[in-house]
Parts: sequence; C-alpha cells; structure tokens
Amino acid sequence: MTDRYCVFGNPVAHSRSPAIHAQFAAQCGQDLTYEALLAPLDGFADAVARFVAAGGKGANVTVPFKEEAFRLCQRRSARAERAGAVNTLCFNADGIFGDNTDGAGLVRDIEVNLAQPLAGRRILLLGAGGAARGVIAPLLACQPTALFIANRTADKAEALARAFADIVAVDAGNYAKTAGRSFDVIINATSASLAGEALPLPPGLFAPGSLAYDMMYGKGETPFMGLARAQGAACVADGLGMLVEQAAEAFALWRGVRPDSLPVLAALRRQLAG
Ligand code: ATR
Repeated sequence: MTDRYCVFGNPVAHSRSPAIHAQFAAQCGQDLTYEALLAPLDGFADAVARFVAAGGKGANVTVPFKEEAFRLCQRRSARAERAGAVNTLCFNADGIFGDNTDGAGLVRDIEVNLAQPLAGRRILLLGAGGAARGVIAPLLACQPTALFIANRTADKAEALARAFADIVAVDAGNYAKTAGRSFDVIINATSASLAGEALPLPPGLFAPGSLAYDMMYGKGETPFMGLARAQGAACVADGLGMLVEQAAEAFALWRGVRPDSLPVLAALRRQLAG
C-alpha cells in the first residue's frame, strides 16, 4: 500500500511541497504520495479527520492553520510546544503527534547551506508573529551572543522576549529601538515583503560580514533583500532553502531517512527563476 501524505493550507494551490516531497521520495526509494489539500477556513479539523480516515499517514500544515494544528495534537515535540505552532503531523494508532520543523529548517539553511555559524553572533529577528515565534528557540539553541526581537508593534516583540526569558535574556522593541546597534545576522520574519513593503530600519544595523536572511521568497529579490544589500550586508538570502530544509526534516521524521536537500533546492531555484 502506498502511504499518503499531504499539506493542508488555505490557499494551498501555490504550494511547492508536493514537488519537493515527490523528489525526496524518488531519491530515497520511498513509496508514497503527497498532495496539496485545501482546507476550508472553518473546517481544518474536519479535513484532517477525513484524511486520517482515508488512511493518511502524515501531513504538513501551512498558513493559516499552524496554531489550530497545535491544538489538535494529542502529543507534541518539545520544539513544537515552544513554537506554539505545528507544521508537521504524524497520524499514529495512539492519535496525532505534532512537530515543528520550521526553526530547524532555518538553522540548517543558515549554518549548513550558507555556511554561516550562529554561535557567538548577534542576531536581530524582525517580526513578532507566528513565523518569528517558531524560530526563536532553535536560534537560541545555537548560542548566539545576543538576540534582539524588533517589531512594528513593540508590545508583541516584548511579549515574545518574555516568553523566552527562561532560556536567555532577549532584547525587544520597535525598529527605532535598534538604532545605534549592529548585528551579524538579521532575519526577516515579517510578512511585509508580501505587501512589497520595505521595513523602516535605521541605518548601520548590518555589521561588516553580516548575513541578511528573508524567510520569504519569490521570483526576484524581496524588498528586504534589496534594503540589506543597500545597507552593506555581505551575504543576502531568501527563504527557499528554509522551505526545502523544513520539508527534509518532516520527511526524515515520517520515513526515518534523511533526503539530500541540495539537488531539490537547486531544481526549485531554477523553476522559480524560469
Ligand atoms: P506570521 O504567522 O507570518 O508571522 P502574523 O502572525 O500575522 O503572520 O505576523 C506578521 C508579522 O509581520 C508581524 O510581526 C507584523 O507586525 P505587527 O505585529 O506590527 O503587525 C509584521 N508585518 C506585516 N506587515 C508589515 C508591514 N507592512 N510593516 C512592518 N511589519 C509588518
């Protein structure tokens, strides 16, 4: 019997996950199918129940269902508990297990694919929504010397810093509060790029040799990537590698075998450019 997997989202038609997992499966000789399933905004739990009843083994979850997926799980990984959101579901005899592979995907893309160690570096995280929250603990586990969370709405950044204060002291505030500081790694976890908007960052944030990472991706450069180049970032990356790496992590969890993400990332990059 071919094992079934899917990604739930709304919208979901644009999802690259089916193509990514099909390549992983071919590479690893795994007999599985992976499809994109549109769940109604008020019908996520029902859609999951139907998929499980039809023999589904696991699923990814994307916007806007990651928090609802968290609530649906009977058991969760420690990193999912910290993230407050779930992007990977495993359907077992004893119920639904939830994990969150987004942070691990981001860290692997930065440290392995981009060869930029995070230990001992100063990180600025832009944004304080679900995307930012999901990557904080995995970033802190890499032992940076400092983490600053900056957000348009300062309260939300400060609340996030408090939520992680038991791990390490985290600075937080609005964008203006970062003035006069500089950082080695600046990660954009806001959705401002979706609206084609650049963030009002004070000048001088990018230290010599710094990395600018946008968790978003698109056909060309995002507004954040353009701003980072103009302000002197040495290395500028979009979030396509994170997308492939969070998928590889989910695949490994489901199938017990780790796919080679680099050829899949290269193929996706070519497709996006074409
Ligand atoms: P996600 O799950 O993608 O993180 P979210 O929880 O809605 O989505 O959070 C969106 C993030 O992008 C927030 O940090 C938001 O800032 P506010 O908290 O101040 O709303 C940020 N964001 C979205 N559009 C933005 C814009 N045009 N300028 C600056 N920040 C923006």
